[in-house]
Amino acid sequence: MIAKLSRSLDTLLADERARFLAEHPRSVAMAKAAAGVWRGGAPMHWMNDWASPSPIFVAQGVGAQVTDVDGKLYDDFCLGDTPAMFGHGDASVAAAVADQIKRGAGFMLPTASAVIVGKLLAERFGLPLWQTATTASDANRAAIRWARAVTQRPVVLVFDGCYHGMVEDAFVALKDGTAVMKPGLLGQVHDLTATTRVVPFNDLEALEAALAPGDVAAVLAEPVMTNCGMILPEPGFHDALRKLTRDAGTLLILDETHTISTGPGGYTRTFDLTPDVFVLGKAVAGGVPAAVWGVTAELSTRMDEARLRIGPGQSGIGTTLSGNALAMAAMRAMLSEVMTDAAYTWMLTGADRLVAGLKAVIAARKLPWSVAHVGARVELVFANPPPKNAAEMRKVLDREAVEALHLWLINRGVLIAPFHNMMLVSPVTDGAAIDRLVAAVDGFAAAMGDA
Ligand SMILES: Cc1ncc(COP(=O)(O)O)c(C=O)c1O
Repeated sequence: MIAKLSRSLDTLLADERARFLAEHPRSVAMAKAAAGVWRGGAPMHWMNDWASPSPIFVAQGVGAQVTDVDGKLYDDFCLGDTPAMFGHGDASVAAAVADQIKRGAGFMLPTASAVIVGKLLAERFGLPLWQTATTASDANRAAIRWARAVTQRPVVLVFDGCYHGMVEDAFVALKDGTAVMKPGLLGQVHDLTATTRVVPFNDLEALEAALAPGDVAAVLAEPVMTNCGMILPEPGFHDALRKLTRDAGTLLILDETHTISTGPGGYTRTFDLTPDVFVLGKAVAGGVPAAVWGVTAELSTRMDEARLRIGPGQSGIGTTLSGNALAMAAMRAMLSEVMTDAAYTWMLTGADRLVAGLKAVIAARKLPWSVAHVGARVELVFANPPPKNAAEMRKVLDREAVEALHLWLINRGVLIAPFHNMMLVSPVTDGAAIDRLVAAVDGFAAAMGDA
């Protein structure tokens, strides 16, 4: 909630929409042309989910800045919602991809880079054995399927408010304490609540009770919830999660697709967590579609046993493009040259600067807001104290205020990820860009309070 509004959000939104339309004639014209050929006016419906009244058509991204077809320059804190979290157009990834595509994009056979990438993954994340997928959604799906095969249990447990991509099993939420399929879910004919259990994040009692029947194959979780606003784990949560899952014979899948912002080895390495499966997509190949998932040696042995038990035939896991030569070349460059300790040092320093700046705005203007962050990923929360679970977050997530802030920022040359107030600091984001973002947020707060 925004405190003490002296200007209505409606008025602000109307003014900002008019400004956007006036300043983006080429994007608006392209959106009109696209509407004739793309359902909803864009190749993917999320491209329409930004706060701007018409999608921004991008001309190019360089480092942590994007230029649109109207020639407007933006400081980019969305970074493609993570694939570009180490910057757009990185020279080493560009060179690796250009070199590989000339020599063949994919063969359904491994290349020499596969050996190197596997070693880099094992060293960095601490799990010894890996597989690829084309998206994090697919990696999560594969992990769930294997977990069910290995444990011979039907149920998956997720936390209320989670998002793990296009994973059907995770489209379950709590409504007044009862598990329901997410209201917007399209075309699902199976009752997902029969095989997905859902509990509030940070609620260990509910977790223990949900695991008690002994039928849960796996818990699929982000170490920090980043997709319903940001919700940090309370002290002791991860130790208890690991103990409870182990005691129940349930596998623990940590989806680090967003929390890779924590440090070079993700949240897992920074906080010494010990998942059975580690999932990473989006940034791992610098925007080339690719994801990886790693398993412990023990789980790998159990997977072999399950395979023998089930017998030969199509596993139903895997897609043609997964692990192709292009993705491998990009991952090799990312893991060896881009996702370095030095890059993280800058990202985390930059994130600290952003957090401090936002907190100063909140304090100076006495706003009932707070800031949460996991390494280089920062969230401005319209509530203080920050919510501990998704039910609390839903109560305070004022969608109109979010839209107004985002559109305000767009019109002042700043992009942040749509849906809630998530901002990513890359190794090529400079301090001045961070200060401009903070100033724009301050300007928004001023406009809401003073107009
Ligand atoms: C934590 C998490 N896992 C998985 C995904 C799915 O990634 P993709 O859309 O690339 O499959 C997302 C997407 O936002 C995510 O936030």
